[in-house]
Formats: sequence, C-alpha cells, structure tokens
Amino acid sequence: MGAIRISGTGSYVPEKVLTNHDLEKMVDTTDEWIVQRTGIRERRIAEPQEATSDLAKHASMEALEAAAMSPEDLDLIIVATITPDMCCPAAANWLQAKLGAKNAVSFDVTAACTGFIFGLSIAEQYLKNGQYENCLVVGAEVVSRTVNWKDRASCILWGDAAGATVLNKSEKGAELLSTHIHSDGSAGRNLLLPGGGSATTPISRNSVHKGLHYLKLIDPNKTFKVAVKQFAESCEEAAAFNGYSVSDVDLIIPHQANIRILHAFAQRLKIPTERVFVNIDKYGNSSAATVPLALDQAVRSGRIHSGDKIILTAFGGGLTWGSCLVRWHRPHATADPREAMVSG
Ligand code: UT7
Repeated sequence: MGAIRISGTGSYVPEKVLTNHDLEKMVDTTDEWIVQRTGIRERRIAEPQEATSDLAKHASMEALEAAAMSPEDLDLIIVATITPDMCCPAAANWLQAKLGAKNAVSFDVTAACTGFIFGLSIAEQYLKNGQYENCLVVGAEVVSRTVNWKDRASCILWGDAAGATVLNKSEKGAELLSTHIHSDGSAGRNLLLPGGGSATTPISRNSVHKGLHYLKLIDPNKTFKVAVKQFAESCEEAAAFNGYSVSDVDLIIPHQANIRILHAFAQRLKIPTERVFVNIDKYGNSSAATVPLALDQAVRSGRIHSGDKIILTAFGGGLTWGSCLVRWHRPHATADPREAMVSG
C-alpha cells in the first residue's frame, strides 16, 4: 500500500490586526498581562463580509497550488470548524461551491481545537481503504463572531484564520505515518457555545440577554493543567506508535492555546522549547485553524527540512485531543533553504 502523503499546504489570515493595545481600549486589561499570561501580542479579525468558508477558500487554493492540483481533482473535502458559516449547511458545502470542486463530497467535523487532527484521521482512513484519492482537509474559524468583547478573561485569546492540506498517495510529499484521536464527552464542559443548539431555547432576546451566543471558557485554569498533560501524552503516543521517542522528533507543531501551556508540556517531555513551533504571539488561538496555519508557516519559512519527523498535536473542547506523526519530504516547488545552501 502506498504512503499517505501531504502533497500541499496553504493558509490564510484576515488582514485586520487587533493588538493588545487595541484591546486595552475595549476592556480592563493590559498588554503586559496578556503577553505574560498567554504569549499573545496580536490576532487577526475577519471583515464582516468574510465567512469561515471564505478564509478556507484562500487557504485551500494555496494548498491546491502547492500540490499542483485543481479543485476538480478533489473527491473529499473536510472542514474542521466550530464557527461554520451557519448551522446548516456545512462550511465544507459552502467551500465546495466556492472552489467549484464539483467532483468532491464535503462535510464538516466538530472537534473544537482538535478538529483538524480529526479531519486528517478521517481522510487517512478513506485514503487507506481506497474510497477517495485526493482529500482536502481544512481547519478554519471566524471565532471573533462568537467572542464576548466585554469578557476580558476570554476575548483576549481568540483570532480568525484558516489552514489547509491536500492529502493523497502521490509520489511526492510528506508521509502521514499515523494519526491518533481521542475524546472524553463526560469531561466536555470546558468550552461551550450553547446558543442556537437544540439543548437551549431558540435564539431569542432572552438567550442573547443571557449571552448564550458567546463562546465560553469554563474553568480555564483546570483546562490549562489538563492540556499540558494531554499534549505530552499525545506526543508520546504518536512517537511510540512509530517506534520513536519524543526526543527523536525534530519539530512539534501544537495547537496554540497559551505559550505557558506550550512551555510546560515541552518541559514535561524534557525537550527544548525551540523544538515546539510557536506563532501564538501573532495570531492568538484560532481553534481548529491553529495547527494547519502553523504547519503551512513552518513549511514556507523553511523551518521544516526533508527527513524531519514532525508531530502535529491538539487539545480542545469536547474534550478532544490527538496527534499525528509526519515524516517530511518537501511537497512544494519552493526550494528548501537549507538544501539550497548545501548544493549552492
Ligand atoms: O484552546 C483550548 C481552549 N483554551 C483554554 O481553555 C484556555 C486555557 N487557559 C488559559 O490559557 C489561562 O487559564 C487563561 C489565559 C485563560 C487565564 O490565565 P491565568 O493565568 O489562569 O489567569 P487567571 O484566570 O487565574 O486570572 C488571574 C487574574 C485574576 O484576577 P485576581 O482574581 O487574581 O484579582 C483575573 O481576574 O487575572 C485577572 N484577569 C485579567 N487581568 C487583566 C483575567 N483576565 C484578565 C485580563 N487582563 N485580560
């Protein structure tokens, strides 16, 4: 059986930058507190006319270009999101239409910040069993639409973004060696967006008054501790499954929830923090989009080199967590800066 490969990556962030200093004018906070407690300096905010599928489209076009493919080549589109364009239809259906990917089937996956890893895992199964050949997996969010801009404890965290990957069994590209996904519904009350769901009354003046349409963090301090443990265990699981230890891994690309979580799990795994990819300072927490955005940035900035072993890992509402191990081979036409230095 041929290897499952990531043959292209892409990403997109909206142009509008919201800095901590901007937030100082909106809520009782300071740049110093936000940087110290979260590592975030700024985040991107979608324009009113930009929906999740629009961000996803930009990222997808980039990934398709990198894979030297057109939308018609796709037979599966998965969008991981908790902020779809609307409850129905799926953001993936909108994306399919906007791409003109008429030969694909499209659906959304809801696993909060771990959604992209879940999407990769689903695509991996379809590619393995041969039902589909060219899969687009996207993590895309316009979280800013669900943020309570008066709640200083959470509004400082979120940002909007999208990242995409094309997976297939082509000759070239990074090998997806394994995926590992988990959930514990009994512990899933850490991240709630109740408004519009069937467990609550229909959206009404009363539900808006109660703030049910806002994304709510429940006991974030507890989540912080659980995240450190789950990140570390997820990395160990992906490495061990493939006969490695975490110290053999060249780069970990984790969900960007809090810089202190990233440093704490690196310490727990006894690996240098330089081996953990960080971009939370510029983009904040964009839920399911953080991992594919970071992956694309790591690829395009030359941070990843041929032969590198990379773990993608995430943790989020649900409770959900997961990881995957990738052995990198450059899918993009752009030269690997390190290889160019050696040859030139
Ligand atoms: O992606 C998965 C979902 N993400 C999460 O679940 C987030 C995980 N948790 C975290 O990242 C951190 O717990 C937070 C960043 C949310 C909070 O950081 P913390 O260090 O745990 O702060 P805290 O909640 O313990 O609050 C410390 C103090 C409090 O004041 P008092 O009670 O000590 O007087 C808060 O009221 O900081 C205050 N505070 C703020 N001060 C200035 C809370 N938010 C702010 C703020 N600016 N924005």
